[in-house]
Amino acid sequence: LRPEGSLRAQLEERLPPALWQLLQDVSELAERMNCGVYVVGGFVRDLLLKVNNLDIDLVVEGDGIAFATALAVQLGGRVKTHEKFGTAVVVWGQQKIDVATARREFYQYPAALPQVEASNLRQDLYRRDFTINALAICLNQRRFGELIDFFCGQRDLEQGFIRVLYNLSFVEDPTRILRAIRFEQRYGFQIEPETLLFAREAIARQMIKELSYDRLFAELVLILSEANPAPALRRITELGIWQYLMPELVWTERVESELLAVPPLLAAMDTAGLGLPARPWMVYLLVLTRRLRRESIEAVGTRYPLRQRLRQAMQTLAEMGDAVDECLSQWLEAPSPSQLESLLSGWILEATIALLVGRPPAEAIAIVRAWQQVQAVRPLLNGQDLQTLGLRPGPEFARILQQLRKARLDGQVHDRDDEWALVKQWLAEQASKKKPGGTHV
Ligand code: CTP
Repeated sequence: LRPEGSLRAQLEERLPPALWQLLQDVSELAERMNCGVYVVGGFVRDLLLKVNNLDIDLVVEGDGIAFATALAVQLGGRVKTHEKFGTAVVVWGQQKIDVATARREFYQYPAALPQVEASNLRQDLYRRDFTINALAICLNQRRFGELIDFFCGQRDLEQGFIRVLYNLSFVEDPTRILRAIRFEQRYGFQIEPETLLFAREAIARQMIKELSYDRLFAELVLILSEANPAPALRRITELGIWQYLMPELVWTERVESELLAVPPLLAAMDTAGLGLPARPWMVYLLVLTRRLRRESIEAVGTRYPLRQRLRQAMQTLAEMGDAVDECLSQWLEAPSPSQLESLLSGWILEATIALLVGRPPAEAIAIVRAWQQVQAVRPLLNGQDLQTLGLRPGPEFARILQQLRKARLDGQVHDRDDEWALVKQWLAEQASKKKPGGTHV
């Protein structure tokens, strides 16, 4: 882990060429603008751990906003500034670069400029959550790649400790309690004993209650977006924090084992090449709420900023999950596309996956694959075709196309000729019942 001297070689070796070039550009600009520029936080932590992380957070000793604006011009990107905080975001292609101004109050000592510059960065890093996130790499040309480690972050990375930088860290920002647990579980680290004591104190003082539900939910989503969130959630319950997140849900072995079954299921679906655009955090959330009662789900949905569609999916899964699951077992015996459509119609992908957790992956894959195929079925005829039959666009159009789709699912029609024949048959039937003056089907 311990780098020999500069991290330049490690950066060049590990970063995609475009990102490496970006750091060169930042470096040149730092010279031109005569300010200290550092890449800080998670990027540095993960570089030392050899984990991919392409999120660039820069700290500028000087005017961060001016720096970000010039960087955007140089890259041909866009910049969004937050004057009040001295921060900016540069967006360049797919890449997002956060730029912050190191604290200014240390400019009170201009006489000792180099030291002051160093302590500016130091002060900026000292405000941060954990020693492992308070590392920086200098990007200025003569010091390019130099690791700056004021608080023994590298030692904690080596020993696997999550350690705060000051006693009141959790009281000042209680989201850090959840962040500590998230990093601990992600890297297989341990919250360092004294830090754990500070966390327990903050929990006992009910500091989590001070957080808005929006912030709490944002942290919950981050935890549920980890590769395997169950151990972090278990730790949250052990530390007595779950009651602040979702008091409606009693943590049981069953909930835990269902959560633990999600990563292998998602991995199996991925390996099977399903290419699903599922958001894992939603799958986990749905697994969590699956056995809650209607009122509890409403309480969760009102407390947190959830979209209507997701709330609806939670209710559907909780109310109909068991029945649909049973029907799916029968369906597997004699799969029929149109029956699958009636079972899963209106289900979002994440709810379908949450429903299938616990089944052998091969079964779950068979169901999702069939469901994908069902959803992809479209009639071969389209609106233009229908117009050539003299039909005018209107709600009936959609009805005919939907009926054609159902006929295809049921295997009644196989090609365009079949579909033409069916539409003509329907039109003839309609014509015989046609009211005077009406031209719609
Ligand atoms: N940070 C902090 N306190 C917080 C949130 C963030 O001190 N409550 C600091 C940390 O130094 C962190 C940096 O801001 O490294 C960037 O925050 P974020 O992007 O949330 O975290 P990362 O460390 O990049 O973690 P992840 O890998 O989960 O993105």
